[in-house]
Amino acid sequence: MPVSKLTPQEIVDSIGELPPMPTAISDVINACDDQDMTVGQLSQIVLKDQSLTANILKLANSAFYGHARRVTTVTEAVVLLGFSAIKSLAISSHTARLLNRSLPGYGLPAGQLWHQSMCVAFTARRIAVEVQLAPVEEAFVAGLLHDIGKVILSSHLEAAFNEVQQLAMDRQMPFHHIEAEILGFDHAELGARIAAKWSFPPELEEAIRCHHDPEQATLKPLLPHVVHLADSACMMLGQGIGSDGLAYEVCPSTLEALEFTPERMMELMDDIAPMLAADSFGIE
Ligand SMILES: [Fe+2]
Repeated sequence: MPVSKLTPQEIVDSIGELPPMPTAISDVINACDDQDMTVGQLSQIVLKDQSLTANILKLANSAFYGHARRVTTVTEAVVLLGFSAIKSLAISSHTARLLNRSLPGYGLPAGQLWHQSMCVAFTARRIAVEVQLAPVEEAFVAGLLHDIGKVILSSHLEAAFNEVQQLAMDRQMPFHHIEAEILGFDHAELGARIAAKWSFPPELEEAIRCHHDPEQATLKPLLPHVVHLADSACMMLGQGIGSDGLAYEVCPSTLEALEFTPERMMELMDDIAPMLAADSFGIE
């Protein structure tokens, strides 16, 4: 099947073409990790970058954060949301441009992967709060980045889009298994390598690598289960139904690991459904 003239290693190497983390974003990330940082100092660092400031305020006012009061200044956002949420929002601001692209290899129009990724991020954060998996913002970032490998794999799958779709339907195989069969690895593995390139912690890399097979995780097993459940819930509600939605399988051990009964799963889906439909997550 003429999917790509590149070898798997060359596809992995093409991660190098991704834009590096801009200094303004990495300054905010480092400041959020600094124990001696004050609210005023962090706000000043955020304010140095206009689009980052606008994006943080926009996302801080997203329905998913559930603040009755409108957040109008960066200082308010830092106080109300906390340093780790500001860090997540800075990472979101950077990745939005990548995730916002159209992905013809997955049948996703522009904006859809970004919207779906934000839905999974907020849902993963909500599940992490419920199962008391700290830090909850780690679940947010894992949810946000879980499918980032698709940004690179899309162009390699595009040439044989119809054949790949047919293969997925004929064999009733999850889409990431088709990727692995054709390319030698799947979008989850590639996403983990992108996380490593951006120097994210190994637990986060693992959660991205194992988001379709959470049972494989050893470092922090509950984190990929949380991302997998969030991804499944959003998928069931119709978010992100591109090729990856074909023959999507919910890992049977996830509900058990997180002690989620089917009733609790229904409650989760009832809670997130209106927010998924309402929020566009448009950023600058
Ligand atoms: Fe995925």
